[in-house]
Amino acid sequence: MLRERVNMIDIKRELADIGGEIKEAIAASLEDTIFIKGPRVKEFEKNAALFLGVKHAIGVANGTDALHLALRAIGVREGDEVITTAFTFFATAEACAYIGAKPVFADIDIDSMNINPALIEKLITKKTKAILPVHIFGCPADMTSIMNIAEKHKLLVLEDCAQSFGALTDGIKTGAFGTAGAISFYPTKNLGAYGDAGMVVTNDDTAAELCRKYSEHGCSERYYHEMIGYNSRLDDIQAAVLNVKLRHIDRFNTERRRKAAHYIKNLGDAVLCQRTPGNAYHVYHQFTVRVKNREEVIKALSDANAASSVFYPVPCHLQNAMKYLGYKKGDLPLTEMLSEQVLSLPINPYITDGEINEISNIVKSVAESA
Ligand SMILES: Cc1ncc(COP(=O)(O)O)c(C=O)c1O
Repeated sequence: MLRERVNMIDIKRELADIGGEIKEAIAASLEDTIFIKGPRVKEFEKNAALFLGVKHAIGVANGTDALHLALRAIGVREGDEVITTAFTFFATAEACAYIGAKPVFADIDIDSMNINPALIEKLITKKTKAILPVHIFGCPADMTSIMNIAEKHKLLVLEDCAQSFGALTDGIKTGAFGTAGAISFYPTKNLGAYGDAGMVVTNDDTAAELCRKYSEHGCSERYYHEMIGYNSRLDDIQAAVLNVKLRHIDRFNTERRRKAAHYIKNLGDAVLCQRTPGNAYHVYHQFTVRVKNREEVIKALSDANAASSVFYPVPCHLQNAMKYLGYKKGDLPLTEMLSEQVLSLPINPYITDGEINEISNIVKSVAESA
């Protein structure tokens, strides 16, 4: 039994670590009183672009808007098909639907839990416009293969980097491979704001300009509207928080990786853990295992005072809202199996080795490996 409740994220311990810097940054934003398009937004856009190795970064209101506006800005239109994964948060597919584009789901690679590039090509039709990989739980999708397919078939690529800030493959950060990347700074993310926030990143000048216009009611000059846009902006107070956290992100990601390695060592072959491809740097937004008796494990953890979460119990293609696409159970067997088996255990930069040991012992004593 854990003495203190172990949650998935631990903002209290985070505040004990960097709360002083955060409060100072928020106070400075309050002093300036420029909450929309304030100086901290510009600073964060500049710092994030530098960190990720991209030319442009555009702050928006949340990760869902980042996906939606990026799809529009790179040129995805009504009637286009977008090949993506159904093993993701619903917003990935939802953003396609906002535009009237059709999400077409490829099954996953069971080990990495990411879209399987070997299944993409046979889904390409005359209507296919883009590929939308998700770096699930912070593990980079196979961007080398995906970019090769995109180049061969002249397709756009939007990376869903909602869970992968700072993740790398062969030294390149997620978000820097595709035509654009969409990031969420939802508070639970590995780089989380203290409210909703998001960002589009791209090396494409035209897409960057369009995306900024879309996020500002279709104007580049205030009150002169060149097209119908949206109101989707990152605010100065969230940017203040994010600037502070960006200074610590390498340490946070290193800690997450260390904790994940500790879990993996403890768990041995008691459960199957998400597997990281050899050339990838996983940032463990979530630490996710596969078990056969998920409900039992959840209960045992809860009884011992530890949280756990199921991301995601229903894959996108089987969601009621996506019924119109005509998918049925059995269409994506590995995605569906994963949705029944996955369990994410608490991971954050502050969980202690002792807590990991206790959680691992409970999982080992109850779990039936998938
Ligand atoms: C994979 C994925 N895509 C998109 C989103 C949407 O981000 P937001 O909640 O900031 O709109 C999230 C997070 O919630 C996510 O995990």
